[in-house]
Amino acid sequence: MTQPNINADRLNRTLQELGQIGDSPLGMQRIAFSPEDIAGRDYTINLMRNAGLETRIDPAGNIIGRREGSVPGLPAIALGSHTDTVPSGGKYDGALGVLAGVECAQSLADAGQSLRHPLEVVVFTNEEGTRFHRWLIGSRAMAGQLMDEDLSAVDDEGVTLATRMADIGGDLSRVAESARSPGELAAYFELHIEQGPELYQSGVPIGVVTGITGRGMFEVEFKGMSNHAGTTPMPARRDALVSASRLVLEVQRIAADSEVCRVATAGAIHAHPNAVNVIPGHVRVGVEFRDLEISALDDAESELRRAANAIASNDGISVEIHRQRHTQGVPVAPGMQALVEEAARLSGFPAQRVPSGAGHDAQAIAAITDMAMIFVPSVDGISHSPEEYSSPQDCANGAQVLMNLLLLADRR
Ligand code: GLV
Ligand code: MN
Ligand code: MN
Repeated sequence: MTQPNINADRLNRTLQELGQIGDSPLGMQRIAFSPEDIAGRDYTINLMRNAGLETRIDPAGNIIGRREGSVPGLPAIALGSHTDTVPSGGKYDGALGVLAGVECAQSLADAGQSLRHPLEVVVFTNEEGTRFHRWLIGSRAMAGQLMDEDLSAVDDEGVTLATRMADIGGDLSRVAESARSPGELAAYFELHIEQGPELYQSGVPIGVVTGITGRGMFEVEFKGMSNHAGTTPMPARRDALVSASRLVLEVQRIAADSEVCRVATAGAIHAHPNAVNVIPGHVRVGVEFRDLEISALDDAESELRRAANAIASNDGISVEIHRQRHTQGVPVAPGMQALVEEAARLSGFPAQRVPSGAGHDAQAIAAITDMAMIFVPSVDGISHSPEEYSSPQDCANGAQVLMNLLLLADRR
């Protein structure tokens, strides 16, 4: 039987086409559930249909393109990722995994080759969590892991998740039906850009992911007092933004100096009333820690609490720490890593084992089936930025390894 090769030009053309949907001078703006996200989803559904996949949208809004296999009763092999982006994001994060999955389906169809297992290509809803500040919505729904607080979420525009789901063809009242039972999927494979510098620096074209980082998220809320910026004497101020600023530096120290966890970021800040002539009385700071070890996340949380309380008491300000989602790190099974290595060897590419510092839908899907991830280099390790770039050759290499991984798994 001929070994189907992916079509590199077609893959890169679709990457550029999807990359025009929601593009702006400040980068990609395909925020989950936005008109741009919906347009990107429609583009992908169309590609899936052209590739001979039968498409449906599950109650969690996940797009599932499926072709049956030749052996009745076998579980499906799924390929996928996401097409939503962070604000001012790049063209490759998520899009590569989805479009490479569709490219595998199209190449198999072109070669007239069917698999033994059903093939599914999945676009997961709101991976980034920019909307609702809750990530992996679609993949956690598929893994049966959505929680009540997810279901009742309201976004920054005051719109409920139920309404947003209806906008994309989902139905939150039936979201439990999105859950796939263990045994329904034979395996899940996700190709993704590395989003960090290791492969780019080593010059190795393929990364075999060893595990996906854990992540702890918090919102720290400082309440001081808003007052007139021109008349309030300096010693009399209760400036919540000054306290928040001290916390931002402490968060950085937790990873950079104390090395309590691998990385620590204060990435979001909301100051109220956000006017230049008013002392900010109310500030919320979004904080996250990442590490493969949950104990490191726990230690970072203790440090955060200690620092926030010390700052607040010193500044005469009140503080509340809201603990948001914590996600455990997820290792990739050694046997699955070996399968990716075998697929890279069959494709003729050197491969290197790398951990994932970013989160992925694969970490949720790991709860219901075996998963593996393939990385390709990100130029200068840049991602979540309009500067994000992976070369057409690297994208095509990754897609070819995905194809061979799919074929290897299908024969097992
Ligand atoms: C998802 O993109 C993440 O923030 O890791
Ligand atoms: Mn991603
Ligand atoms: Mn991302």
